[in-house]
Amino acid sequence: MIDILENEHTFHLSMQQTSMILHVLPSGHLVCLYWGKKVYGQDFQYIIQDIKRASYLSDTDGILDFKLEQMPLSYPAYGNPDMRTPSFMLQYYDGSRVSDFRYQSYHIYHPKKKLDGLPTVLHPDSEVLELHLYDHVQQVEMILSYTVFADYDAVTQSVELINHSCKVLQIDKIMSACWSFLDSRYESLTLTGAWGRECHIQHNQIQQGTFLLDSKRGASGHGQNPFLALSSLNIQENEGEVFAMNLVYSGNFEASIEVDMHQNTRMMIGINSFDFSWQLDQNESFMTPETVLIHSSHGLDEMTQRFHHLYQDCLLPPRFAHTLKPILANNWEATYFHFHQKKLLSFIENASQLGIELFVLDDGWFGQRDNDQTSLGDWTVNEKKLGCSLHDFAQQVKQKGMKFGLWVEPEMVSLQSNLYQQHPDWIIAVNNRQPQIARHQYVLDLSREDVQNFIIQSMNNLLQSASIDYIKWDMNRNITDLGSLHLPITRQKELNHRYILGLYHILDELTQTFPHVLFEGCAGGGGRFDPGMLYYMSQMWTSDDTDAIERLDIQTGTSLLYPSIVMGCHVSASPNHQVGRKTSLLTRGVVAMQGNLGYELDFTKLTDDEKRTIQQQITDYKKIRDIIQLGEFHRLLHQPNEYAWMHIYKDRIVVGYVIKLVKANTVPKRLKLKYLKAKSLYYVVTTNDIRSGSELMNIGLDLDRPKEDFYAQQWIIEKRSH
Ligand code: GLA
Repeated sequence: MIDILENEHTFHLSMQQTSMILHVLPSGHLVCLYWGKKVYGQDFQYIIQDIKRASYLSDTDGILDFKLEQMPLSYPAYGNPDMRTPSFMLQYYDGSRVSDFRYQSYHIYHPKKKLDGLPTVLHPDSEVLELHLYDHVQQVEMILSYTVFADYDAVTQSVELINHSCKVLQIDKIMSACWSFLDSRYESLTLTGAWGRECHIQHNQIQQGTFLLDSKRGASGHGQNPFLALSSLNIQENEGEVFAMNLVYSGNFEASIEVDMHQNTRMMIGINSFDFSWQLDQNESFMTPETVLIHSSHGLDEMTQRFHHLYQDCLLPPRFAHTLKPILANNWEATYFHFHQKKLLSFIENASQLGIELFVLDDGWFGQRDNDQTSLGDWTVNEKKLGCSLHDFAQQVKQKGMKFGLWVEPEMVSLQSNLYQQHPDWIIAVNNRQPQIARHQYVLDLSREDVQNFIIQSMNNLLQSASIDYIKWDMNRNITDLGSLHLPITRQKELNHRYILGLYHILDELTQTFPHVLFEGCAGGGGRFDPGMLYYMSQMWTSDDTDAIERLDIQTGTSLLYPSIVMGCHVSASPNHQVGRKTSLLTRGVVAMQGNLGYELDFTKLTDDEKRTIQQQITDYKKIRDIIQLGEFHRLLHQPNEYAWMHIYKDRIVVGYVIKLVKANTVPKRLKLKYLKAKSLYYVVTTNDIRSGSELMNIGLDLDRPKEDFYAQQWIIEKRSH
């Protein structure tokens, strides 16, 4: 609900348990009054009237002691007279860069509409507050849109700029969301890492100065998720406050926290202003991607629940958001590029006998692709390798009772490919410079309409050529040598953003034409695991690192924001291909069952024992998959040596536990559960015990005495009484 207070100058975005309050000052500047646990009241202006005035700051509008620089501004401009980091930067035709937007009017409507060309969080009960601002000197309009998802305790923010002047305007920076706090006693919370080590949780105390997290790689990146939060010091799972921003965008982004000299904090997130600008002609408008803003007053778990519910209900493709995902077998780590029909058919036969539901043929099935040096862009099947047409191959998979899926990397072109021979100008490159090659491939210039159409057409042909149920859409290199041979000189800095808009257009077309196809997003693992891609693709390959122990940190971090139903998690071979670690099939299975279970090992080389164990795992997972994919996920432990988590769905619970290194002569501890009903009785299926919720939460489940390092346990529990 949106309450309008104080002579229509205060807007209270009121949710189930959260309030966000914005206010228009008499000068027409917008300020953030409050964001936090729900408050009730009619008059909130005192929050800023209490600000103690500092010296040496400019007065605003010539009013003594009206110092804008001390105000918690909602969407601050540059240099008039706030000298902190602005949320946008414009350059006008006369060379000036100072903007002065003042409030004009508001507009409330529901439900929210899809943002043109951009992924959007949508719900029929959402309500939108638009605040219209205007710069009279430059004749530019700004619309700040805040959408309230009251039942989800979430707000999304986006910003639109409209050029009403007859002169060209250059946007150098335009954030999607900004919030100002009159305090700095916080830590930053980020999800950082690298290829194979995505989404590690990182806490840092903030201090005077600016902290910047960004990606310049052309994708949101392995190194940092487009997420930034402020939290109370030493935030816990169930205690402390969090203010979180997650950008619904898949390209270069920046997120910053600035603590000023008076211990006020400003946090913002949006398209990276580094190497960005956008030319806005007369009557044109620019819309930023949107940001999800979520507050929790009960620690990380509450934040997680809010993100998970919002994303599962309002962001994921509705057709797949609440539909159980098939258990897949992928041949990548089993064969890499080296396969032929006989090998694949034997793999498929074995996989189907063990209960696998979807076979995914990974890289190497097209063109002349026997290694990573050739054929990206030539999306025609290599019949020599498959021994038949793609259509007939898919039929053979279907005959085994499985669905059929395929790997593609349509945004790329190999140097050795027909496509590159025909269209050398279609790549991202700077005129007169030889672009850098990475994994022997170039990036196609998705800002071009002809390139977009080519990708749509070639994927259309492919998807029509055989019965394909699933696509793994990969993107395996950073975008370097930023230059487009078709954009004019003045628009070269638009390339990164235009690339992402082009990608979204392609995905829009393909997902609408083939609504039944399950898309899994991948960028060398989790290099583009972000809410933007989740709007089109209901599953993500979480990381190329398939080691169960490495996955503990990766999946724990990912779980902070993204629900289990989107996380692709595979059981792979031991020793593991990335780190050489040996782990049991039990441990690999327990960890992979934190999300969508899949297998990525050679089914033709399994011992009878391994076959039996895998068959049992698959049978077990089918019984609990609804709990994992449709239930609520909670982290119980994530300390360096021990990890535990639980999924709850209706009256059933699955609990997972892993210890990394075993110590001698220690007494096994117990694992305390959470979120149960104290007086209800629960049947622990795994150990055949009946326990009350209060016992399970306060005394806990028995842990085994681990017999080896990397030991795992899993429990299935059913509620028996109310
Ligand atoms: C990327 C993916 C892998 C695999 C290879 C194929 O690295 O993340 O899972 O598909 O490409 O080349």
